[in-house]
Amino acid sequence: MPRAVPEFRPLEPFGVEIRNVDLSVALDRTTFARVESAFNRAGVAVFRGQDLSPEAQIAFTERFGELEVHVRQEYALPGYSQVHVVSNVKEGGRNIGSAYAGDNWHTDLCFMRRPARLSILHAREVPHDERGRPLGSTLFVNVADACDRLDAETQQRIAALSGVHQYHRAQEIKRRQRETDHPRAPLTEAQKAKTPDVSHPVVRTHPFTGRKCLYVNPTYTFGIAGWPEDEARMLLDMLFSHCLEPGHIYRHEWRVGDVLMWDNCSTWHKALGDYSASQRRLMHRTAVVGDEPY
Ligand code: OGA
Ligand code: MN
Repeated sequence: MPRAVPEFRPLEPFGVEIRNVDLSVALDRTTFARVESAFNRAGVAVFRGQDLSPEAQIAFTERFGELEVHVRQEYALPGYSQVHVVSNVKEGGRNIGSAYAGDNWHTDLCFMRRPARLSILHAREVPHDERGRPLGSTLFVNVADACDRLDAETQQRIAALSGVHQYHRAQEIKRRQRETDHPRAPLTEAQKAKTPDVSHPVVRTHPFTGRKCLYVNPTYTFGIAGWPEDEARMLLDMLFSHCLEPGHIYRHEWRVGDVLMWDNCSTWHKALGDYSASQRRLMHRTAVVGDEPY
């Protein structure tokens, strides 16, 4: 049978849609290399119309490296410790996954010593408004581009700084926000022990493209190592508003079957929580462990 030739279409203002690939079967080496390189350059890659079992999603993810086993195993798909369920669905009064995950700008697992290189989200159920338009879109910004856009003086000022990432603090904020509709258990002592506060360079080098990326974000970064908190806050807020200047956001409107992958070094993302508890949203997420940032 002739091999399908993948097609790469740029998304606006960044990202790539990759067509003519079926992720449920193993990609040949050439196709995989083209996909990986397009993804590394674009930061976000979209594949429409996929039908992936958890096994197939794991197999595709594994091509990129070691799979992450999320510290919150209460949100793992039963029987699959590496598949993280992102969902507002409740069964028997209990959330089957992490509800309204990522509803402020962030990068996944930046609070780990080795953060996630990339994440892959597969849409199983997508909420809609009464006209059939998808709700619960996901937004992306490119923080390699944002880093390039900083003036030379700021680039120099932040070049040697480290950001402090705090998972416990971020989870406590999240827990309080959703205390009534989607209560989360506080982190256990064992979960806390696996996620101490960490510092990573504010400007990190992308391990595949060599580009400089701004590696601080509004959800998890609360400080600058060695700085008083109020001074750190001012610098961080300035960097955050810089990254979010209008005109640079890719908005992904979901369809069932989409596979969306993003680079956690060169992009931030944010989930829009514009749907209600009765509108089901169900996603399966896998992630690949990356290098220690440098
Ligand atoms: C995630 C995440 C966004 C979304 O799974 O890491 O942030 O739109 N999800 O569900
Ligand atoms: Mn996320």
